[in-house]
Amino acid sequence: MTRSIRFDEETYRRMEVMYAAPDVAAQRRAVLDALKLLPGEKVLDIGCGPGFMVQELLPIVGPAGKVSAIDVNEGAIALARARCEAHSNVEFQSANATALPYLDSSFDAAVSAQVYEYVRDLSGALRELYRVLRPGGRTVIMDTDWRTAVWRSSDCERMDRILKAWDEHLMDPILPRTLAAQLRDAGFVIRVQDVFVFLNSEYNSNTYSYGLAKMIGAFVPGRQGITKDEVVAWADELQSLADSGDYFFSLNRYLFIAEKPPQ
Ligand SMILES: C[S@@+](CC[C@H](N)C(=O)[O-])C[C@H]1O[C@@H](n2cnc3c(N)ncnc32)[C@H](O)[C@@H]1O
Repeated sequence: MTRSIRFDEETYRRMEVMYAAPDVAAQRRAVLDALKLLPGEKVLDIGCGPGFMVQELLPIVGPAGKVSAIDVNEGAIALARARCEAHSNVEFQSANATALPYLDSSFDAAVSAQVYEYVRDLSGALRELYRVLRPGGRTVIMDTDWRTAVWRSSDCERMDRILKAWDEHLMDPILPRTLAAQLRDAGFVIRVQDVFVFLNSEYNSNTYSYGLAKMIGAFVPGRQGITKDEVVAWADELQSLADSGDYFFSLNRYLFIAEKPPQ
């Protein structure tokens, strides 16, 4: 079994539903607010996925600015391109975060949400991020510490095993704990460390954890000894907790604002 999730058509279909949820939109707003973009700026989205963030960056930089976006997955680039087709000041490339196809000092700002936790060579990716930012440029990075997941269940052992299996969908499930140190090693100055908290007391398509449960349910069977029947029982319990008004889910995502020092 592979150590990470396959970002295939089905995964992106689930992601698009999940990313439209109001709490995920609020997370994007937190990242955008931290980025403090100005009209006319050049900004890079690293690991743009289906392009929701790119779509929100475009009206801020306006026609005098430009949004560039990369993702290692061609399918993501196709979705993001389609989402932003009405705009001319945007360009997409299929590329790895560890080999950004841009000249040194090309960008005023860069954003990367929920991407570095998937990257095997993180120090290489952070070196690239540093290289393409201009001196004085800033980056906003958001990643999840998956050990902060708090999810009500009557079967804590099963929940723990399912979350442990879900850890296998990415390279570093606890990246936020070391990210500031790794950014400093790459030459950045850390300006802000903050937290964005998901808190769902409802379980429906308007909540992040509803979409997350679908993704987990598709990924975990066969890992950590988890069977399909166990996943069905787990998902049924989430639904019955929701039906009785007893649903509870919380998860922390950490936000970092870092600056490339002015020369
Ligand atoms: C969870 S999605 C996040 C998408 C987007 N940043 C957002 O927040 O809406 C992770 C994305 O990172 C991309 N990705 C993973 N590893 C990457 C790498 N090494 N270089 C570039 N993109 C990568 C995946 O293809 C996927 O589209």
